[in-house]
Amino acid sequence: GAVRRKLIAANWKMHGLSDDLSWIDAFREALGEAHDRDILVCPPATLLAAFTKACRDVGIATGGQDCAAAQEGAYTGDISARMIADTGARYVIVGHSERRAGHDERDVHVRAKAAAALEAGLVPIVCVGETLEQREAGEAIAVVTNQLGASLPEAAGAQGVVIAYEPVWAIGTGRTPSPEDAEAMHRAIRKVFPGEGAMLRILYGGSVKPENAGDFLSRAEIDGALVGGASLDPEGFARIVNAVW
Ligand code: G3P
Repeated sequence: GAVRRKLIAANWKMHGLSDDLSWIDAFREALGEAHDRDILVCPPATLLAAFTKACRDVGIATGGQDCAAAQEGAYTGDISARMIADTGARYVIVGHSERRAGHDERDVHVRAKAAAALEAGLVPIVCVGETLEQREAGEAIAVVTNQLGASLPEAAGAQGVVIAYEPVWAIGTGRTPSPEDAEAMHRAIRKVFPGEGAMLRILYGGSVKPENAGDFLSRAEIDGALVGGASLDPEGFARIVNAVW
C-alpha cells in the first residue's frame, strides 16, 4: 500500500509561557539524528507566532489548537484559521474532546471549523473519540465513525486532513486502549474515506508516553500520535518521536 509518513504531534493545551520557547532547543538536542517522520507542535495561541518563527528551517511544523468557523468579524476572543495561517503555522486541531465537552462544540461546529481551516490553507486535525460508557456498551466504532462523518466538511479529502482518534477515557488518565483495539478503530476510520483511505493519516491520542509510544507507533494502521501531557517535557517528547523506526 501507499507509504504514509508518521506524524508525531504535541498538543500543549493551556500550557506555555514565553520562557518555554527554550523547549525547542532542548527538544532538538534530545532528538539526535533525523529520522523519516514529521514533527508538529501546537503551542497555545499566544506563543504560536514566536514558536513558528523559531521552528522555521528546523523541521518542526506548528499548529493551532482550535479555530473559529468564520475568518474575521465581530467575534471577540476568537482566532480564525486565516490568522493561524498568517503566523506561518500549517495545521490546526479541531473538535478536541476538551472543546466538545467544555465549550459545547458539536459535530456541526467542528465541521464548520474544519472547513474554515481548509479554506485558509491549513491541514485540520479532526479529533474524534468515544466515552468509556460508549466503549463499554460496544458502541465505540459506530459512535466514532458517525462522529467523523458529521464532523468532516464536504471538501475534505484524505490528503488534506489528519484524523486523531482520542478515546475520551484515555485522555490524561494513564489508561489506553490496547494497540489492537486502537488499530481496529483506525481501520474503521479509514473506511470513512472510500477509495482514498490509504492516503489518510490517522493519529492515536490519549496517554501516549515514552514508555508506550512504540507499542502504538509500530502498528501499520497507526500513522502517528497526538501527545498531550508528555509533550511538555522536551526529552520525553523526543523519546516519543524516536519511537518511530
Ligand atoms: O490531544 C492530546 C490529548 O488529548 C492527549 O492528552 O495528556 O493524555 O497525552 P494526554
